[in-house]
Amino acid sequence: MTRKPWQGRFEKSTSQILEKFSESISFDRELYPQDIRGSIAHAMMLGKTGIIPQADADLIVEGLEQILAELEAGGDPWDPALEDVHMNLEAILTARIGDAGGRLHTARSRNDQVVLDLKLYIRDASVRIRGCLVELLGTILERAEEQFGTLIPGYTHLQRAQPVLLSHHLLAWFEMLRRDHERFAAAWESLGQSPLGAGALAGTSLPIDREMTARELGFETVTRNSMDTVADRDFAAQFLFNAALAQVHLSRIAEEIILWSSSEFSFVILPDAFSTGSSMMPQKKNPDPAELIRGKAGRAIGNLTTLLVVLKGLPLTYNRDLQEDKEPVFDAAGTLVGSLEVMAGLMGGLIFDSGRLGKAAQDGLVTATDLADYLVRKGIPFREAHGITGNLVALCLERGCGLAELPLEQMRERCPHIEEDVYDFLRVDLSVQHRDVPGGTAPGRVQDAMEEARAWLEQVRSR
Ligand code: ARG
Repeated sequence: MTRKPWQGRFEKSTSQILEKFSESISFDRELYPQDIRGSIAHAMMLGKTGIIPQADADLIVEGLEQILAELEAGGDPWDPALEDVHMNLEAILTARIGDAGGRLHTARSRNDQVVLDLKLYIRDASVRIRGCLVELLGTILERAEEQFGTLIPGYTHLQRAQPVLLSHHLLAWFEMLRRDHERFAAAWESLGQSPLGAGALAGTSLPIDREMTARELGFETVTRNSMDTVADRDFAAQFLFNAALAQVHLSRIAEEIILWSSSEFSFVILPDAFSTGSSMMPQKKNPDPAELIRGKAGRAIGNLTTLLVVLKGLPLTYNRDLQEDKEPVFDAAGTLVGSLEVMAGLMGGLIFDSGRLGKAAQDGLVTATDLADYLVRKGIPFREAHGITGNLVALCLERGCGLAELPLEQMRERCPHIEEDVYDFLRVDLSVQHRDVPGGTAPGRVQDAMEEARAWLEQVRSR
């Protein structure tokens, strides 16, 4: 029977049913790199301040470094009877270096330790996620640059609305994911305060140096209130929100790719490497990767919900409920990294059918707004212009033609202000050119947008 570090005040051993129910080592082992990093910094501080003998601190650091190397090589030393990663590592260390190991937990509680580990984990995960976002953003931008000039119908209500450049559409995806990148970067601040030293809830009576461990672990400063420190999981909730929103963005992009790859749209052909077949229907090429990404948004939102519900109603300070914070965080991080990697592969391999896209953009009614704007230029109030254009659209529908095919006399019958130059406003390519405002789809504006995006990416890559 494994002896637990807290066994002292107990007479009988823990029920096996409870042991199985309460252990977290089966999942929080994922925190071992962070837990060891934190313990090394803590031990160094304990040695430096003379709270423990320097020789013991050195033994601890050496021992932990060895354990880390073994775990990285694939070691699996975990004992569920020791509950969690913190007690497992301490036990492994003590088994190796003897009494010195028993000094590691001086002036520390698992309550501040676990916050430290989770903060470090989320920092590491955020760096990885930002790296994956930059990869995907780079691929989207490349596709936008390469497709410059291709037209596509822009949609509202999933109805053809106005023609745009395909590059403009792709840059809209770029903006969504750029915001995610910025959100993960901005969250850094809430991850910048070291919790070490908060102890179980009230701090410690030993003369620790909180600033020293903070500096050692890359924190800007230390948390202000020990009780809040061990109870706070806002940083995790924020991470889960950021992950959920990024996953929602990926899901929306995935949905468009799914639509575009359907026979009904046929705007894109999926790359073989990022699509799957049907076990029954030999002709099928399915957008499973995009569908999975869309589906995983559900998990991501669930993870955020899980943590918020766990936190709601918890009294100060630490409560064991908080152990439920880890799996949502691990799952959100893994799911997002996986989705970003797959989306980058899919994005890079999409084959755009520019012929199909152009034809769809040439929809005969898609320049109706341009006609209304033309009438405005002729001095007609927009509301009236909208009405006249609506009439002409109805005429087109009746005759089965596009606006550009209406004879001038027929248009003038409905509005004498219309002149020969109207046709310059009904052409799809000119419609796109005319949307020459900042953020608009005119080729010059899109070119500027691509240059700005390229410069931003380069700056982010060099940060
Ligand atoms: N495994 C625990 C958790 O994840 C570590 C903290 C335990 N603290 C305690 N007082 N039981 O929350």
